Amino acid sequence: MDKMTRSGLVLGLFVVATTIITTACVHAPYVMPVSQRTGDPTICFERDILPIFVSNCTQSGCHGATGRDNSYRLDNYADIVSNGIVPGNPAASKLFESVAYSTGSSKMPRGGAALNATQIDLLRRWIATGAIDGGDCTGGCDSSNFTYSGAIAPMMATYCVGCHNNASVKGGSMSDYNNVKTQAVSGKLIGNIQHLPGFVPMPSAGLKLSDCQIAQVTKWVAAGALNN
Ligand code: HEC
Repeated sequence: MDKMTRSGLVLGLFVVATTIITTACVHAPYVMPVSQRTGDPTICFERDILPIFVSNCTQSGCHGATGRDNSYRLDNYADIVSNGIVPGNPAASKLFESVAYSTGSSKMPRGGAALNATQIDLLRRWIATGAIDGGDCTGGCDSSNFTYSGAIAPMMATYCVGCHNNASVKGGSMSDYNNVKTQAVSGKLIGNIQHLPGFVPMPSAGLKLSDCQIAQVTKWVAAGALNN
């Protein structure tokens, strides 16, 4: 081999190698190493993330225990992270893309209202910091605050309104004060969120409000379920 051919060969190999490396990088999305998945200190999976999925994706016939496709459930941590979440990489997470964009055939929730900006931002930060179970779940609830506007309405918005979004749903709209009050006075609101025997467990059989949140609702009802 003369000098020219050899250097041509080396150059050729270099180009091929570079192409392989670059293409490999394009096709394998970044996945955060387990040791770096530290979580966002302000996010608690059970409190902030799970309710978004339960309230917006597990309605009957969708991605719950009795959904049309049991292999694609979104009502618990293990199923959520194994169904289209890439830890550390929201942009590569199909599940995130489907809720973050409001158009396209894979837009979710299908037929339901889109998630709001706060919910999408929470999901993005949760995935970007490793999509971990747990997190700091201590803060965020003060049982001495039990006004409708300060505690009850935001709780309903997070945990209930995804399913109870209009008057024709059984149990009614949980964004309508008058309906929440009706359910409170009937005893169903408290029976359901406490998962008492004979009641329908809400938000779902697998997800229960915290003791602090249940205390807020109980105190609010005991004080007359006011629109305060
Ligand atoms: C995943 C969807 C979903 C979520 C989330 C959800 N509900 Fe429900 N809820 C339902 C369905 C479906 C029914 C009708 C169930 C039945 O009667 O069998 C219902 C019924 C009810 C009823 C009436 C039950 C009765 O006894 O007549 C109340 C009250 C209620 N829900 C309160 C809540 C509250 C409060 C929350 C939030 C803490 C909540 N729900 C979250 C789906 C949901």
